[in-house]
Amino acid sequence: MKKSVHIRNLTKSDLAAIVNIEEHVTGVARPVYWEKRIELSEAIRPHWASLIAEIGSQVVGFILGRAGELEFGLPSTVAWIEIIGVDPAFRGQGIARALVQTFVESAEDHDIKTVFTLVSADSQEMVGFFDRLGFAQGKMLHFHKNLAG
Ligand SMILES: CC(C)(COP(=O)(O)OP(=O)(O)OC[C@H]1O[C@@H](n2cnc3c(N)ncnc32)[C@H](O)[C@@H]1OP(=O)(O)O)[C@@H](O)C(=O)NCCC(=O)NCCS
Repeated sequence: MKKSVHIRNLTKSDLAAIVNIEEHVTGVARPVYWEKRIELSEAIRPHWASLIAEIGSQVVGFILGRAGELEFGLPSTVAWIEIIGVDPAFRGQGIARALVQTFVESAEDHDIKTVFTLVSADSQEMVGFFDRLGFAQGKMLHFHKNLAG
């Protein structure tokens, strides 16, 4: 029988699994970055904004985000999805949808009315995914300045 996906809060013990998934996706392992990132999440970010997807006892995906209050001139608190990743061997099974759905439901429970994310315009994968999940392109502009060196 096919095991179903279970979504739970992320903990420090998920460090190695997250590093592995990211390495499978990008080819780069960043254990030091992820150790600090998880510490940051546990210290100052709402716990509902860092989630793990498991099938059986195997970690197969994650989502990390935060809540931002009156930032960027926005009139209310919004939730941000900062990074989402699903193990390539487990894609196409609704795992990322389940992660986003739990994230959105938790944001709603905290009286948040909007979820934001940023995606690269070059990433058809991420544009297509968020479009499919009902996210629409917003009106905020992304500004940047290239620095010398
Ligand atoms: C994009 C990503 C999160 C999707 O994960 P997934 O578990 O395969 O997605 P799901 O199976 O939950 O798909 C949900 C919906 O989005 C759609 N979808 C998924 N990937 C898509 C894509 N690349 N383009 C368009 N639609 C897509 C699915 O068809 C599905 O639609 P449906 O439920 O209406 O049938 C996954 O491919 C990924 O992790 N990509 C790499 C992201 C990344 O670079 N992260 C940073 C480093 S870890």
